[in-house]
Amino acid sequence: MALMRKPVVAGNWKMFKCGDEAATLAAAVDSGGSPLAAEVDIVICPPFPALVRVADVLRAGSVALGAQNMHWENEGAYTGEVAPPMLVDAGCRYVILGHSERRTLFHETDENVNRKTHAAIAAGLVPIVCIGETLDEREAGKTHNVIAAQVEGSLKGIGAELSRIIVAYEPVWAIGTGLTATPEQAQDVHAFIRRRLGQIGDRPSAESTRILYGGSVKPANAGELFRQPDIDGGLIGGAALDADAFLAIAKAATV
Ligand code: PGA
Repeated sequence: MALMRKPVVAGNWKMFKCGDEAATLAAAVDSGGSPLAAEVDIVICPPFPALVRVADVLRAGSVALGAQNMHWENEGAYTGEVAPPMLVDAGCRYVILGHSERRTLFHETDENVNRKTHAAIAAGLVPIVCIGETLDEREAGKTHNVIAAQVEGSLKGIGAELSRIIVAYEPVWAIGTGLTATPEQAQDVHAFIRRRLGQIGDRPSAESTRILYGGSVKPANAGELFRQPDIDGGLIGGAALDADAFLAIAKAATV
């Protein structure tokens, strides 16, 4: 990881943790994460109903709050959706967008993700924009093509604002499967993403954009992933539900 980019470790809690459990987990991350905050940006992303409860626990401000999705409009007749200003009001500073589960299970497209990315920036939120190839795409040798199309589609018109976003590379075949990309496989795609960012924006902005790896990151493999030059931290699913494991991963980003 390059020295000029502060690492980020973000926990994606997915559809886990009700109020009390969420508050307990957040408090443990907050107390263990505060001493690391100068060296790594730590973010936790609970489900919507737990956001306000968790925001109360994170009052010290060294661990930040994020959401897992949002709509692109600021308000309107969109039953079941949550708007960017609502997330800001709940205390969020980050929002995960275009996670592969949203793309696969809820039919989100690059166009939707692009609208959301613009809306997040306009609301003052830092979008964590997720991209990644499926196993079939990797085995067919299409990884770079798929990633290029996702970068271009999801980040259309964002060239001047690359410093305000985070990209998460999450190979779909590695999410929740226990299979992790090797550090070399991940580095290859991260370097490719950075080159593409340099084409939609300018080179210095692309160099300053933080690109996270996600997909079965654990304390045992975090260090070697984070030592790769273009890997600037991680988006953590399963291991983010355990405070000790999540904090060990955050710690791995500081060395
Ligand atoms: P995982 O999930 O760490 O459980 O593989 C990562 C993610 O979906 O963001």
